[in-house]
Amino acid sequence: MKLFDVYPINDINITHAKGSKVWDDQQRQYLDLYGGHAVISIGHTHPHWVHRIEEQLKKIAFYSNSIKIPIQEELAQKLGEISGKKDYQLFLCNSGAEANENALKLASFHTGRKKIIAFSKSFHGRTSLAVAATDNPSILAPVNQTDNIIFLPFNDSSALEETFKKNGNEIAAVIVEGIQGVGGINVAENSFLLSIRKNCDQYGAVYIADSVQCGYGRSGKFFSHDYAGVTADIYTMAKGMGNGFPIGGIIIAPHLKPKHGMLGTTFGGNHLACAAALAVLEVIEKENLIQHAEQVGEYLSASLKSISSLTGVRGRGLMIGFDVPDHLKNLKKNLLFKHKIFTGEAKPNVIRLLPSLALTMEDASYFIQQLKLAIEQYQD
Ligand SMILES: Cc1ncc(COP(=O)(O)O)c(C=O)c1O
Repeated sequence: MKLFDVYPINDINITHAKGSKVWDDQQRQYLDLYGGHAVISIGHTHPHWVHRIEEQLKKIAFYSNSIKIPIQEELAQKLGEISGKKDYQLFLCNSGAEANENALKLASFHTGRKKIIAFSKSFHGRTSLAVAATDNPSILAPVNQTDNIIFLPFNDSSALEETFKKNGNEIAAVIVEGIQGVGGINVAENSFLLSIRKNCDQYGAVYIADSVQCGYGRSGKFFSHDYAGVTADIYTMAKGMGNGFPIGGIIIAPHLKPKHGMLGTTFGGNHLACAAALAVLEVIEKENLIQHAEQVGEYLSASLKSISSLTGVRGRGLMIGFDVPDHLKNLKKNLLFKHKIFTGEAKPNVIRLLPSLALTMEDASYFIQQLKLAIEQYQD
């Protein structure tokens, strides 16, 4: 059987990894500034994470949500403490798309309404409602098309205000990334997030903060929405949550009430995934990784801004993007194949940096040095 060929693949076989380094089957070392697409939060194969998973695996890996799973409560407790959302409720699932799907569904159940506001350049996942709320018609199958999504320009508070004025009583939710990832690292302005909060309050809509990529400490705060001092009704999360072990979740404000059968999943919240997620939070806390991400991110951003051929350096913490001019269009490829550095991208010309939150200053400065060399050497 062949694999279903949906990914454009680099001809590299990574066989092992540690911290922010990965090695291929030829024993060549790479620096990982991509974090396997913003997933590696505490560093590849962190010993505490490996230990927690191994210990859990020896006891029990999975049982269904029909029984008590105390490690879920342990995870909820720790997540409440570290995120500062102690009074929220946790629902666990398996991926980012699933988290958004559940958040949107819950908002609709809660309000009894159908319309969702989403924004230009948004990415919320590939399942039915999540993809419908994603601003990319090329990944929307005919069956996913719906007129329940209202797309508005990102960071445009007047358009938001106008729409609420006209249709406020039909709107179930606003879903917004605090920093758009796939869209090219676009930071939501504080005033924009405040205006989402205000309109949701006024019209009884649910504010959903898609924190799948920009959450879990990546921005230098636990949620990037925290920069605006706003509180969302639901935060969705996934990527960094398990450091590569698949787990997603939503945290839900106390005024949104649960009902048996309202949401559900077979695999979500299994023992093994919770052990991985707990290990991640324990390491984030012990190694002070959120503050570390902020500091290393500041250094990287400032260094990138001093490179004259790069423009539009933007982002927060360790979620950084910059524009690559046409004459350097092969920069990402050259960094990977000639300098052995993984970075991310956003079409058409953005390089995205999404490293582990534990990226060292030394590795960050090595990256800047190699980036400068790559720019000098390969002006193709
Ligand atoms: C902001 C955001 N939301 C949702 C998703 C979907 O997550 P997953 O691929 O785990 O379904 C992504 C994935 O890139 C994302 O960046």
